Amino acid sequence: MPVSQFTIHSRIRDYDVLVEDSADFIDALIHGPRSCLIVDENVWRIYAESIFRDLRVEDVMVLPISEDLKRLESVQKIYDRLVTYSAKRNLTMISIGGGILQDISGFAASTVYRGINWIFVPTTLLAQADSCIGGKTSLNYQSYKNLIGTFFPPFRIHIYPKFLQTQLEADFLSGYGEVLKLHIMGGEESYEGLVRLSPLVLRRDPGALLQVISNSLQVKMAYMADDEFDRGRRNLLNFGHDFGHALESTSHFEIPHGQAVILGMLAANLISRRRGLLEPKMEQHLAESLLLPGLVAKPSIDALDAQAMIDAMKKDKKRTSADLALIMMDNRFEFHRVDDLTAEEVVAALDNVRGKLGYLS
Ligand SMILES: NC(=O)c1ccc[n+]([C@@H]2O[C@H](COP(=O)([O-])OP(=O)(O)OC[C@H]3O[C@@H](n4cnc5c(N)ncnc54)[C@H](O)[C@@H]3O)[C@@H](O)[C@H]2O)c1
Ligand SMILES: [Zn+2]
Repeated sequence: MPVSQFTIHSRIRDYDVLVEDSADFIDALIHGPRSCLIVDENVWRIYAESIFRDLRVEDVMVLPISEDLKRLESVQKIYDRLVTYSAKRNLTMISIGGGILQDISGFAASTVYRGINWIFVPTTLLAQADSCIGGKTSLNYQSYKNLIGTFFPPFRIHIYPKFLQTQLEADFLSGYGEVLKLHIMGGEESYEGLVRLSPLVLRRDPGALLQVISNSLQVKMAYMADDEFDRGRRNLLNFGHDFGHALESTSHFEIPHGQAVILGMLAANLISRRRGLLEPKMEQHLAESLLLPGLVAKPSIDALDAQAMIDAMKKDKKRTSADLALIMMDNRFEFHRVDDLTAEEVVAALDNVRGKLGYLS
């Protein structure tokens, strides 16, 4: 039995999120009729003798996982497998893995027979606390990340936080950056809640993880409520990502996504402070209580030059005007998008973040 459950309302279809404290639900899923099981290769390797002990490898499609595999060719491999099942539109796909498997298999589920029944079991912090809801599926194209995609939520999501015990530290920390962002976006109370829980979360305490995953999803849900298709308010969830994406690409993806988002929030808050939206005391509190301690990998941004960052920000696909855009927060934890970010502000923000990182080491 799930320990908690809630429904996400979607214009495509409402769907349920079930939070589980035992892996028994997997047995029920895999013995369901007409189902095709797709599992992340690392997850399969780690859990083959425990959670998946009743399965034969021939009954499962085990997919190798890397960002390079988020391509149409991987989707074609899934189609090749799906057409071997006699069930067609009434086929159920069950995917077990992180955000990459979600993106590839969700895209396949949304397009084959114009959409089949799809159940997603996220196994990473990012996928459990953030990407599993929202209904986006994405593929990379040429050098463009997430250029191709569909809106197609899973029919049901099962969250089993114990999967996170085996995640590699760097991947876990990347997810933690999104958890941090969502707790800040949830307002003062949710933010202070994470300040208290963060030492436990970083040690992967199951109770603390359960709480922050649930709160992250509630916050994301609130931002999507009237804007499922990302035309207005949902776009604010890109807080930290305008700088973050530029940092990721100019560092040639050496800075993990979630850590780049933390750096991006530090930079955005500095600009908010310069524009008088955020009091200096508050900017400092946010940096010292959560953002800097969240940068466990202590990435170096010394080599990054501001011009490269500005060029990268100009290429962002979510940009809608000629000027640079930035999402900023104010003292009341409200979020605003501005379209008049200047190059001078980018330079100042990067200098400031570099200084803060120096202060860390
Ligand atoms: N669709 C969306 O809304 C959305 C949102 C945010 C991010 N994303 C995408 O998600 C991807 C990142 O996903 P992610 O951070 O979940 O990780 P991931 O899917 O990239 O997996 C990271 C690594 O962890 C391994 N792994 C997965 N679960 C594990 C476990 N329980 N134990 C041990 N190893 C495990 C994987 O095999 C892989 O090697 C990016 O491609 C990003 O674009 C999608
Ligand atoms: Zn992100």
